[in-house]
Amino acid sequence: MAHAAAAEALAVEGGPKSVNAPKPHWPYLLDEEIETVRENLLRGRTDWAYMCAAGKGGPAQALEERLARELDVPFAVATAGGGPALHIACMACLEMGDEAIATPYSWGQTVSCILQAGGVPVFADIDPETLTLDPRSVEARITPRTKALVVVHFGGIPADLDALVAIARRHKLTLIEDCAQAQGSLYKGRPVGTFGDFGCFSLGSGKNIAAGEAGLLVTKTRANYERALLAGMHPARNFADVQDPENRAWIDSLIYTYRVNALSAGLALKMLDRLEQMNAWRRRNAKGLAERLAGVPGIRPQRLPADRDPAWHMVPWTFVQEEVGVTRAQYLKALQAEGVPISGSYVGRPIHLRPVFQQKRTHFGRGYPWAAHPEGASIAYRAGDCPVAERRCAEQDLTMLGGACVGDESELLDQIAAAFRKVTANLERVREIQG
Ligand SMILES: Cc1ncc(COP(=O)(O)O)c(C=O)c1O
Repeated sequence: MAHAAAAEALAVEGGPKSVNAPKPHWPYLLDEEIETVRENLLRGRTDWAYMCAAGKGGPAQALEERLARELDVPFAVATAGGGPALHIACMACLEMGDEAIATPYSWGQTVSCILQAGGVPVFADIDPETLTLDPRSVEARITPRTKALVVVHFGGIPADLDALVAIARRHKLTLIEDCAQAQGSLYKGRPVGTFGDFGCFSLGSGKNIAAGEAGLLVTKTRANYERALLAGMHPARNFADVQDPENRAWIDSLIYTYRVNALSAGLALKMLDRLEQMNAWRRRNAKGLAERLAGVPGIRPQRLPADRDPAWHMVPWTFVQEEVGVTRAQYLKALQAEGVPISGSYVGRPIHLRPVFQQKRTHFGRGYPWAAHPEGASIAYRAGDCPVAERRCAEQDLTMLGGACVGDESELLDQIAAAFRKVTANLERVREIQG
């Protein structure tokens, strides 16, 4: 068998591709979901709430109520996106120059929300087992100025929430969960987003619920809820929902337009009906791929603690160069040529090493928001600050999108596994690849 594979020309050399099964298109919409949008538009002719979520009612309110019910939390706010939800959460807890602990290993908006609220990000490293914030590193970076902790459930993998919640309580930090990639992920059987002070979800079109552009914020206290409303919601809603007289005095149109688009809210509400089914596919396919690739040299699945049940927005792999003697770039080129839907590091450059942090320059200009911190001028972001995240990005990351395997994809998975075996049976030729 190994012999036959070795004799075959690699696709990168002009040989046949291993993967020709159709790859699922993402996002995909059912006819009935498209019909829901049409029906909502028609209702919008007579009911404003179906066109605009500035006030109460309509699909936005229904979406919030459904999410709150399903997550068993008292308050939900539908937003324009996951980024706006994170920004609202940061505005609710940070003042200019406050520090917030963040991960360098994420989509940038897990961190830009802190900058946008005037906070100073301080980076902690990740745990190689879960690719999420390492509680020991978090604890080591807390100072008297730390006010918040922004945790991302990377690729859908729940972070170590027991430890992080305990740290947040001990140091009186606001815990914000970035669940943009983790809708439906469970930690000890409970949905992520419900452990911290704020849970922020994205319903953007690449996400597990792909409803155009939209997001959601959940929180457990009325105080947090009202602060969130004041930061980003229209006065029409806030006059209905904000109760505290002091907060009511702040209701104004001096806000961000962070309310959800009513059409996306209606679509998300309908798509929630099949979140579990889609996540079940993601789980089955991630497991099926890990089983098929077991023992293939050079690549390891993420081995998680038993109490994590990710909804696999992305499926991260670890590349082990020592086992195959080719570079990640060579390995990737060979696999991609075979038709495998795989890429290198999703993060790319760790966030603390990007120009914004190296030059301490944001959209608002040089020095902002570090100038608002008493030691801001001496804060530096250096290579070596977060060695686990840095090594992952530079050498080890391989990434598949969970959405690339949505459906019953056993033929595709078989072909992907065959491609890996073909490439690893021909490593001496992969070593010749430029790149
Ligand atoms: C981890 C993470 N946080 C935040 C966001 C921002 O979400 P949105 O695009 O809905 O604003 C994303 C989007 O990719 C994300 O992956």
